[in-house]
Amino acid sequence: MNSNSLHKYRPFPPVSLPDRTWPDRVLERAPIWCSVDLRDGNQALPIPMSVEEKIEMFDLLVRIGFKQIEVGFPSAADTEFNFLRRLADENRIPDDVTVQVLVQCREHLIRRTFEALEGIPRAIVHLYNSTSPLQRRITFRDASREEIKRIAVEGTTLVRELASQVPGSQRIDFQYSPESFSDTEPDFSLEVCEAVKAIWQPTREQPMILNLPATVEWSTPNVHADQIEWFCRHISGRDTVVISLHTHNDRGTGIAATELGLLAGADRVEGTLFGNGERTGNLDLVVVALNLNSHGIATGLDFSDLPSIRAVYERCTRMTVPERQPYAGELVFTAFSGSHQDAIKKGFDRRTEELAQDPDLTWGVPYLTIDPRDIGRSYEAIIRINSQSGRGGVAYVLDRDHGLDLPKTMHHQVGHAIYTHADRLGRELSSDEIREYFHAHFVNLRTRFELLDFDLDHHASGKPGEVLCQASLRSDGSTLNLSGTGNGPINAFVHALDAAGLKNFNVTDYRSHAVRGGSDADSAAFVQLRNANTDELVWGCGIDSSIEMAGLRALVSAMNLLV
Ligand code: KIV
Ligand code: ZN
Repeated sequence: MNSNSLHKYRPFPPVSLPDRTWPDRVLERAPIWCSVDLRDGNQALPIPMSVEEKIEMFDLLVRIGFKQIEVGFPSAADTEFNFLRRLADENRIPDDVTVQVLVQCREHLIRRTFEALEGIPRAIVHLYNSTSPLQRRITFRDASREEIKRIAVEGTTLVRELASQVPGSQRIDFQYSPESFSDTEPDFSLEVCEAVKAIWQPTREQPMILNLPATVEWSTPNVHADQIEWFCRHISGRDTVVISLHTHNDRGTGIAATELGLLAGADRVEGTLFGNGERTGNLDLVVVALNLNSHGIATGLDFSDLPSIRAVYERCTRMTVPERQPYAGELVFTAFSGSHQDAIKKGFDRRTEELAQDPDLTWGVPYLTIDPRDIGRSYEAIIRINSQSGRGGVAYVLDRDHGLDLPKTMHHQVGHAIYTHADRLGRELSSDEIREYFHAHFVNLRTRFELLDFDLDHHASGKPGEVLCQASLRSDGSTLNLSGTGNGPINAFVHALDAAGLKNFNVTDYRSHAVRGGSDADSAAFVQLRNANTDELVWGCGIDSSIEMAGLRALVSAMNLLV
């Protein structure tokens, strides 16, 4: 925005609450959850859900564990009405689930809503009207506070009357929302809610819900928390009302506003899966619930298979979950950065060691707030390789996907080569491409030197432990026959090379292991050489079905890399 536009805007008025208590509180338990996917979420879709899609979504919400589900606005459209009737007629509402229906404060709509609820054992009728000065002035054409309050009072009176006429087998609870609470003067929201409450007359046994929506998010989350704490302190008969939050996300802080609102005393939260909803969306319930889980708090919601929940959501709503969406996004457990990859690999390695001593070890892997497997994400995507990646990441992929456990001091050489390759290509490398590149540039190399033949004799010298090696080596196009003795195959081969004048290095390290997960029982060996002239250190790798041969191939690979 250009500064010339700033004259149009004003600071948002704070709530005067110098003795606010919410900043010192800690979240210790989950709120009551209410999904509004089928109403607020649905009404924001370019193509609203069909009845079949709504049923699939409803079943999903039940499976996740929602006990309160706003199913629509049955008086507004036939699809909404028919959907509710299908739920009722097909006995799809479990005994422990209450459906909620939204309705404006208008007589014919309220009556039609009660028709839609016929025979449904438990329901919450959710009445709303807008209360903010902006809405009073623009939408209601300069309506006075009294006029706005009257709309709410008359609506509530009718709901109460119709609710009193339902059969004893039916329980109707009541929810009232002063829509646009977030920019309504706190004293006026309170006045309207008190008036509504006086008519409904909730009790501790049958409380009513006062839902205080941030219909539009106009302010910072601390102001929202102040509004909620102020309201909770001033409403009469606090134990007869359930205070509910319903944040939208216009400033991108809907989740923070809800979390602070809970600290400020709210009991209940409305929102949608993945934050679907009008404009920037409703509150993302998945994030709030998993944030609580990540602090060890049970929520009653089961997101242990988030990918399949996401798949149903994307199919029914035709929306996509962005790649950076907390918990559910494709990339949110992926590290491309080298230093992050190193730390994650170290974290997993240490965790594996420590779990052996303490099976109840708390989670603690750098850069990962939770264990991705707890929400059905695999470790596959955690480390992905592009030009920003580091040695640890490449080593991690070779280890995890291809069973190759590179020596620590080799990570830098291999990592550098592979992410330079990614940089040249200007893209991410797949796990198979990483393996191919590693094989082409580090394994069984035969560029200048090639081991053509090799024979070991463990008894030739008659000295225990000493071996004689005879090898045939191609060097710069000619074939050389070499012979040497030593206390092992590598040592004997190095002596043979020395005798042929080909040893301009010292062997500084050697490792080997069986390749995990390979189709045949291959061994991988790694040899590090130090250039006798330059002190340069290089690693080479050999892979062979014989462990001895793997070692020699590793040595020849390193010789090729040394030149
Ligand atoms: O955002 C809002 O204010 C609403 C109300 C109808 C509760 O969705
Ligand atoms: Zn809303």
